[in-house]
Amino acid sequence: MPEKSLANPQQDEIRSTLLRLRTEQERLFLQLRSGEQRFRQLARSVWRVQEDERRRLARDLHDGIGQHLTALRHRLDQLPCAPGAGHMLAEAVGLCDVAIRETRTLSRLLRPQVLDDFGLTAALGWLARTAGESSRLQIDVETHDIPADLDSELATLLFRVTQEALANVAKHAAAQTVVVSVDVRGDSIHLLVVDDGCGCDVDQALARSGAGLSTGIASMRERVLLFGGRFALVSEPGEGTQVRVSIPLPERSESA
Ligand SMILES: Nc1ncnc2c1ncn2[C@@H]1O[C@H](COP(=O)(O)OP(=O)(O)OP(=O)(O)O)[C@@H](O)[C@H]1O
Ligand SMILES: [Mg+2]
Repeated sequence: MPEKSLANPQQDEIRSTLLRLRTEQERLFLQLRSGEQRFRQLARSVWRVQEDERRRLARDLHDGIGQHLTALRHRLDQLPCAPGAGHMLAEAVGLCDVAIRETRTLSRLLRPQVLDDFGLTAALGWLARTAGESSRLQIDVETHDIPADLDSELATLLFRVTQEALANVAKHAAAQTVVVSVDVRGDSIHLLVVDDGCGCDVDQALARSGAGLSTGIASMRERVLLFGGRFALVSEPGEGTQVRVSIPLPERSESA
């Protein structure tokens, strides 16, 4: 009997300590969640600023240097050819053409106008053509049920991930063909980039990127996580490589 009366105050104390600890744990958890949310918002706005800056640079390149080069090209065309100077003039025209082409490509790679004007499917088609021409890869793009009003940041994210995945194929895979597919299933959008190249040791590739020795995989993964999505690199040496991404679609507002 006396033992029981002793145990009760102890139990009460333990109970109240546990309650205090649980309340404290919940408070810390909420603090962590809101810190994480603030970090994501901040990282997304840094990314938005970066994309805006790229858009501005792309426009300046196209409308500034690009237009001047085109004007220069016209002048060269109109120049009367002095005797014996034909070869030099042809060389100058050739150099001018290369500079115009490179300026256009650089401007489009920085921020393709087609992404803003015609959306993700058109932009991926353009990317596949450009990357295919420069790397001699057969790149097929398949898109299904992409909403016409797809969030523009999400479209940019999927475009950038595809751009890096294709750069990796061109650089490392020694592949013949690549298939890029985007489709909507349930309330998520899925991107898959599959190549038939030499593949790689995924653990090694992730270790390289985790140690800061490379940026491609890390930047794809981090951006996808910022949008609450999932990223996976699937590969075996000799078996090709797959980049798999799925991202929840933003909820539509009632009025939309
Ligand atoms: N499609 C692929 N085929 C074969 N290996 C790949 C492929 N994609 C990635 N890898 C391997 O993963 C590694 C890491 O890729 P990541 O994009 O992070 O770096 P990187 O391309 O070497 O350099 P960076 O992207 O920083 O210019 C690569 O070095 C390569 O070994
Ligand atoms: Mg890379």
